[in-house]
Amino acid sequence: MKTTIICIETICGKISPAGFGSQKDRQFLERARAETDATLLGAGSLREGNPEFRIDGALPKNRLRAVITGSGNIPLNRAIFKHGPKPLVFVPWDVCSMLQRKLGNRAEVIGINEISEGILSLQDVMNHLKKCGARSCLIEGGGRLNYQALKQNIADELLVTIAPKIIGCTDEHDLISGHSALGQPFIDLELLSCKPDLATGEVFLHYRTAKRR
Ligand SMILES: NC(=O)c1ccc[n+]([C@@H]2O[C@H](COP(=O)([O-])OP(=O)(O)OC[C@H]3O[C@@H](n4cnc5c(N)ncnc54)[C@H](OP(=O)(O)O)[C@@H]3O)[C@@H](O)[C@H]2O)c1
Repeated sequence: MKTTIICIETICGKISPAGFGSQKDRQFLERARAETDATLLGAGSLREGNPEFRIDGALPKNRLRAVITGSGNIPLNRAIFKHGPKPLVFVPWDVCSMLQRKLGNRAEVIGINEISEGILSLQDVMNHLKKCGARSCLIEGGGRLNYQALKQNIADELLVTIAPKIIGCTDEHDLISGHSALGQPFIDLELLSCKPDLATGEVFLHYRTAKRR
């Protein structure tokens, strides 16, 4: 399973508030969706937003859409549960039947083993997506899921757009958000490509992680 993290950040490394990317970045995101079989989103991003993971305005029937939560705290009124193919919701085993009852037939809730309290094994999540037919997965954030993907060593690549913006505020979310350093203290990335867009001021970066090397 090839797994790619995709995000847009400010120059100061923040990924919120939402909606600061250009139309060009939106097209870049939708192309990445079109080239992958599944999207995985952190529950925090679903609680703060209302994404549906459309491509050219449509919701492809055979593309998987998945959300991950350790708490089971999923807003039930989001558009992802109303339109398009039934999304998957990955949860710890002990909240599985409670959340399935709440969501009814609007989603498929899947129990996954925890590696620590409230933290699911992303390898098991990827294995489940593979069983459903996916060969690639786009991790669409936010920062805490991105951190887990790197910590659990399941991310092959990162697609990071740097927007020509600075917010300078600690309250906003970080691109990679966790408590301890991922490496000693850094993890090293290999730059595969770097494409500046002079019209929008954005820079499109493509990195490979150690997992791929
Ligand atoms: N700029 C961008 O490209 C971009 C992209 C996406 C999101 N965002 C922004 O990012 C912000 C949210 O980021 P965030 O870091 O707070 O949240 P997040 O990463 O979207 O979600 C974090 C939550 O996801 C669940 N989760 C993640 N990994 C898990 C694991 N291994 N096992 C179990 N649960 C797991 C947990 O849910 P529970 O708390 O339910 O246990 C965790 O608290 C929003 O403002 C959103 O707009 C920006």
